[in-house]
Amino acid sequence: MPFSLHHGDALSVLSGLPDDCVDSVITDPPYNSGGRTAQERTSRSAKQKYTSADAKHTLADFTGENMDQRSYGFWLTQIMTEAHRLTKVGGTALLFTDWRQLPVTTDAIQAAGWLWRGVLAWHKPTARPQKGRFTQNCEFVVWASNGAIDAARNPVYLPGLYSASQPSGGQRRHITQKPVEVMRELVKICPDAGTVLDFCAGSGSTGVAALVEGRDFIGVEKTKHYASVAADRLTETVRQTLTQDDMTLVT
Ligand SMILES: C[S@@+](CC[C@H](N)C(=O)[O-])C[C@H]1O[C@@H](n2cnc3c(N)ncnc32)[C@H](O)[C@@H]1O
Repeated sequence: MPFSLHHGDALSVLSGLPDDCVDSVITDPPYNSGGRTAQERTSRSAKQKYTSADAKHTLADFTGENMDQRSYGFWLTQIMTEAHRLTKVGGTALLFTDWRQLPVTTDAIQAAGWLWRGVLAWHKPTARPQKGRFTQNCEFVVWASNGAIDAARNPVYLPGLYSASQPSGGQRRHITQKPVEVMRELVKICPDAGTVLDFCAGSGSTGVAALVEGRDFIGVEKTKHYASVAADRLTETVRQTLTQDDMTLVT
């Protein structure tokens, strides 16, 4: 099986995995953002924070969204320290975040032992303009490496800017779901046939992208409902990939 998916807490699951089992950590942790005041950010659920009033979906809530910024930095440092132990020398880490949590994310990743390499932007074309303000239509991906990058092992040229809308209709499975087309580009930072880890897997978008692009995947998800959604999507992706391979063999 090219993937394993754990239903549990990221810190406990990662502590049971062996050193150097991963090439790239590509993850989308709960941002612990989404509010004008600390009170709003720590007392509202993920669903209240990230679902707009006119949203046409009724998706399940998820856990891990009520830390203030100092606690979030502490948690991120702990988990990224563990992720660093699991990652081969020369491997990479990519973490989604928003403008408010960008500084704490770049602090935490460096405190965890990673070499900070830069920030990518994910542009969301359908974000609503705001009168008298700049449109909040970008989220960010902080990226880093475990020491020097071996470009000869993975000679890719990847963009720093990605533009795509969140999935809609039947494709929408998670409140803060990331587009698979963006994730398919991001997983190319992992060498071909290498292993991608997402310790906050949500509905499994990183894993789907990794499998489609020929990488193995280790996922962890704490919210039971989303662990089950991710398991279904990953299993279906493997089934489709195998079917395509079989068809190629037959023809
Ligand atoms: C921002 S969402 C990820 C969405 C995902 N990128 C997708 O496309 O579906 C973050 C996920 O992390 C999970 N989570 C929060 N705290 C966690 C923890 N300590 N361990 C594992 N998963 C956690 C939440 O349940 C949530 O589904």
